Amino acid sequence: MTSEKTVYDYFNRPLRDLRISVTDKCNFRCTYCMPAEIFGPDYPFLKRDELLSFEEIERLTRISVNSLGVKKIRITGGEPLMRRSLPELIEKLNNIKGVEDIAMTTNGSLLPKYAKELKAAGLERVSISLDSLKDEIFGKINGRGVTVKTVLDGIDAASEAGLKVKINMVVKRGMNDSEILPMARFFREKGHILRFIEYMDVGNTNEWKLDDVYPKKKIVEDIHQVMALEPVDPNYTGEVASRYRYVGSNDEIGVISSVSDAFCSSCNRARLSASGMLYTCLFASKGHDIKSPLRGNLTDDQLTTLLSDIWNGRRDRYSEERSTASTTRKKIEMSHIGG
Ligand code: GTP
Ligand code: 5AD
Ligand code: SF4
Ligand code: SF4
Repeated sequence: MTSEKTVYDYFNRPLRDLRISVTDKCNFRCTYCMPAEIFGPDYPFLKRDELLSFEEIERLTRISVNSLGVKKIRITGGEPLMRRSLPELIEKLNNIKGVEDIAMTTNGSLLPKYAKELKAAGLERVSISLDSLKDEIFGKINGRGVTVKTVLDGIDAASEAGLKVKINMVVKRGMNDSEILPMARFFREKGHILRFIEYMDVGNTNEWKLDDVYPKKKIVEDIHQVMALEPVDPNYTGEVASRYRYVGSNDEIGVISSVSDAFCSSCNRARLSASGMLYTCLFASKGHDIKSPLRGNLTDDQLTTLLSDIWNGRRDRYSEERSTASTTRKKIEMSHIGG
């Protein structure tokens, strides 16, 4: 039975969105996420028995939806399609009453193979990452020389399978800010919402500097000078992207401004890592071990109490504190919690 229970954190923010990482592996090596020098052939990725099983993920999701107020699920990685039989998990989650939305964040490269199966299993939406339309720039960013066409083929496969598609572009100054306008034009024409993401200081390996950030204000100005934009109200409370519409049309873009204009006050997201740690912030230093209790003999009620206690005690607002917080503090890697 679905109840209307909701848990709130210290700042009165409800839990609504559960983001589930299913693998820490990826077939790309984006410089800002998994630099190849660090994530090399000897990198100790998680072993099979360290990963939560599909049954364990299903149980946690059921509890989160039935007793804690979660409504949205997002599957992330690493690259989630590197996890074998992923459509089986989607199907299990789709059968949980009360799940209103299932989305996935992916680099798109494996969508030609899996898009139809994912859609049939109940996936509704995908966010596909693409940072440039030029092979020379994109190949360098993804660290593996993957071509733009590989991702565009994934985007087309997702559309053809009936999945709703958004495109995510991380913007880093000097790396791909020259691609803002070409990307905006291209995806407006194609009819997909493009979201620009300010380069963030996630993880410990990307040597982030504030100077590298190309802020929301500039992104919007760059586009507005050529194609006039107007702001649009959020679709829902806690939406991280600020929406803008091209004047005189229904085409829109989004800008995710974690650095220049933080949105922690409405943050309703919890992140479950592939190894079964729960993180209450993208920039958390510490997670909460859920796998051990899950593999112990805890009842559903005991697990509910554990999870709601974690959320009740949550005080995270890293992006709002960024200017004062130490940037040298150790943080969870993006590839463990998928953005
Ligand atoms: P919708 O459900 O369509 O609104 O998408 P979404 O914005 O939840 O999805 P997505 O995972 O595509 O988010 C895009 C990117 O925004 C992520 O990869 C992160 O880089 C960033 N992001 C998402 N949520 C948060 C958050 O809570 N805090 C911060 N700082 N960044 C976030
Ligand atoms: N800053 C901003 N976005 C990032 N992503 C990965 N690393 C960073 C970063 N340092 C984005 C990817 C993808 C999602 C998984 O997170 O581009 O869209
Ligand atoms: Fe892989 Fe996405 Fe990280 Fe790039 S940003 S290395 S595609 S998980
Ligand atoms: Fe939420 Fe942490 Fe992002 Fe703030 S920085 S919006 S608290 S995940």
